[in-house]
Amino acid sequence: MPKPRVLATRPLFPAAQQILNAGCDVEYWTKPERISKDELFQRVKDKEGLVCLLTEKVNEELLRAAPKLRIAANVAVGFDNIDVPACTKRGVVATNTPGVLDETTADFAWTLLMAVARRIGEGEQLARSGNWKGWDLDQLVGTDVWGKTLGLVGFGRIGRAVARRAAGFQMKVIYSDAIRAPLDVEKELKAEYRDFNALLAEADFVSVHVPLLPDTRGLFDGPKFYRMKPTTFLINTSRGPVVDEAALVHALETGKLAGAALDVYENEPFILPGLKRPNVVLAPHIASASLETRTKMASIAAENVVALFKGQRPPNMLNPEVLKTR
Ligand code: GLV
Repeated sequence: MPKPRVLATRPLFPAAQQILNAGCDVEYWTKPERISKDELFQRVKDKEGLVCLLTEKVNEELLRAAPKLRIAANVAVGFDNIDVPACTKRGVVATNTPGVLDETTADFAWTLLMAVARRIGEGEQLARSGNWKGWDLDQLVGTDVWGKTLGLVGFGRIGRAVARRAAGFQMKVIYSDAIRAPLDVEKELKAEYRDFNALLAEADFVSVHVPLLPDTRGLFDGPKFYRMKPTTFLINTSRGPVVDEAALVHALETGKLAGAALDVYENEPFILPGLKRPNVVLAPHIASASLETRTKMASIAAENVVALFKGQRPPNMLNPEVLKTR
C-alpha cells in the first residue's frame, strides 16, 4: 500500500521527521523563505495530510484546494489560523500541540516581565553603544518585580505555570478567567480570583494568557487601559489581536501605563511604529522557542498525523466529532 502523502510547510526537526517519515510519504518545504499561498495551494492539492504553522491559514479556500486532505496538524497550541468548523464540515481532522509548551512559554512571559521592569533592552543598547560612562546613581532605574502584584488574565495551563514562578519573587498573585479555578489549584498556587476589572485596577504586572476567540479579540481596549494604574506593565505572550494596539500606543503615550512587553502583534510581522518606544520590550513571537519545546511541538504534530493514518485517534483533535461520524 502506498503511504499517505503529506505536506510539511517547514523541514521540522529531525525527531519529528523520523516520526512522520515512518508512516507517510512526506514533501517538506525546505526553502528559507516561507511557503507562499500559491505554492501551498499547489502542493497541498494531492495531499492527505498537512503539517502547518500558525502563519498558514487553513480555511475554506485552502480546504477547497485540497480535496483529499484528511488532517491539518498545526505546530502550535493556538489555532486561530485554523477554521475548525470548516474542517469539520469537510471531514478534515484538525489538531494542535497542547501541554508541551506551557513551561517554556511561562519562562518567556517572565523574561519579558523582568526585561521591561528592569529596562534590560535600554541597558543592553547602552552597554553596546560605546557611550556608557560608568555606574551612576539614577541610571536606568527600573521597577522592582519582587513583592509586587501579578495579575494573570487567563488561568489555564500557561497562566498557572506563570503563577507557579511568582512564589520565588514573593509576589501576590491574582487572576481572572471566564471559569474560576478549583479551590485546591488556587490554594496550591496562592492565587486569588478577581473579576477582570478589579484585576486591572490592582495588578502591577498584567500578563495575558487567553486564547484568541471572538470574546477575547480586542479585550484590552482604551477603557481597559484607563482602569490600570499608570505604574502598571502589560505583558502579552498570547495572541496580538487580544490587545488593541492603537489603544495601547495611546495609553503609553499619555502615561496611562508604565510600559509593555510584547511577543505577539495584531498584524504579524508588522509592528506598529508607536510601539517602538523605550518603555516597550518587543520580541518576535518566540515564547515557545526553545529547541526542546519546538522539537516536541513538531513531534506531536507528526504523531497526530501518523496516528490518523494508522487508524487511531490523533491525541490532540480539535474536532473529535469528525471521527465519530465516520
Ligand atoms: C504559539 O504561539 C503557539 O500557539 O503555540
